Amino acid sequence: MVLRVLFLSFGFLLLSCGTEETEEQWSASSLENGEKLYMIHCLRCHGPSGDLGASGSKNLKISTLKPPEITKIISEGKGAMPAYANTLDSKEKFNWLSEYVISLRN
Ligand code: HEC
Repeated sequence: MVLRVLFLSFGFLLLSCGTEETEEQWSASSLENGEKLYMIHCLRCHGPSGDLGASGSKNLKISTLKPPEITKIISEGKGAMPAYANTLDSKEKFNWLSEYVISLRN
């Protein structure tokens, strides 16, 4: 009986964690979500404004790539840039990132 109660409360705990995460982590704004992902995955090479150039990374402020080309590079990687196909688990995340990368051009 005690075990059953424990099991049930653990299940609820997992459930509530799950919904909290999706609600808290992603906003309705693609740009905000893109920025969040960029800060986690891209900052160390491309820097906060896209022009850091660490590890020989390309300057994103002067990049002329179109969204499909950007998502392709993020997915497959290029040269010293790692591939993110296995890290980013939804097509949406690639679109958010691509939108954010383009916004760096201003
Ligand atoms: C380990 C360093 C590193 C990380 C982390 C990294 N990049 Fe790059 N990135 C590079 C390098 C190096 C290149 C140049 C590749 C080449 O052309 O040989 C590049 C090129 C690019 C280009 C192509 C620009 C152009 O005009 O050719 C885009 C877009 C880009 N990165 C976006 C991203 C995004 C978005 C992320 C995060 C998801 C990211 N990068 C993470 C190193 C990195």
